[in-house]
Amino acid sequence: MKIILLGKPGGGKGTQATLLKEKLDVPQISTGDILREAVKKGTPLGKKAKEYMDAGKLVPDELIKGLVEERLLQDDTKGGFIFDGFPRTLRQAEDLEEISERTGISIDKVVYIDVPTQNIVKRLSGRRSCGCGAVYHIESKPPKRQGICDVCSGKLYQRDDDKEDVINNRIEQYEAQTMPLIEYYKNEGILVTINGDQSINDVFKDIIKGLGI
Ligand code: AP5
Repeated sequence: MKIILLGKPGGGKGTQATLLKEKLDVPQISTGDILREAVKKGTPLGKKAKEYMDAGKLVPDELIKGLVEERLLQDDTKGGFIFDGFPRTLRQAEDLEEISERTGISIDKVVYIDVPTQNIVKRLSGRRSCGCGAVYHIESKPPKRQGICDVCSGKLYQRDDDKEDVINNRIEQYEAQTMPLIEYYKNEGILVTINGDQSINDVFKDIIKGLGI
């Protein structure tokens, strides 16, 4: 199955993608993770992306298209995938359509996780991440040992863009550039809307039901 997870920054896309990839046995394609890795390694893409990410702005569409296309060419995507954080703009949705027409890859469903904006700052400022990809929250999903990852025993850190002033920019960018995608995919007839303002498990149950899997 080929799925897009759509929603506000901190709306739970990464958390639900991790659960879904286990269930469906398909890879999670997070453009945010790919970009953070590129920044960490200091690649040409990472150097270009860093200033946008630090400011809570979207990385230019032309950089994202190449990155996504390259990832889709890898063998592990043949049986399906979960996009987490892509597309983020109408231009990216059109780029994806163009790639789809060329490669025959077509998206089955777009899951929109709907969370009220007032919950977002709390979710993001309490998030703690691990280099292995595991994500926690100091209140709603604390690790067993404070500051230590349950999965790999690595040291948890707070993402640079999870500071309050950057969070506000990210929300503004979402409202201006990503929100129009809800209507876009509704018109395509593949949008499934999920109430994201419930426990992680209940959101997951609703997604499973919404996807009919
Ligand atoms: P990216 O990494 O994609 O960030 P984001 O979309 O802002 O999403 P997040 O990863 O912050 O949140 P999430 O929805 O995955 O929530 P999570 O599950 O972690 O992008 C970062 C930057 O990269 C962008 O700002 C941009 O610069 C660039 N970028 C990336 N993709 C791009 C693209 N396509 N185009 C252009 N630029 C791009 O949950 C958040 C917290 O809440 C966690 O602590 C979690 O434990 C907790 N939580 C989750 N679910 C629940 C629940 N149901 N109840 C309570 N707590 C919950």
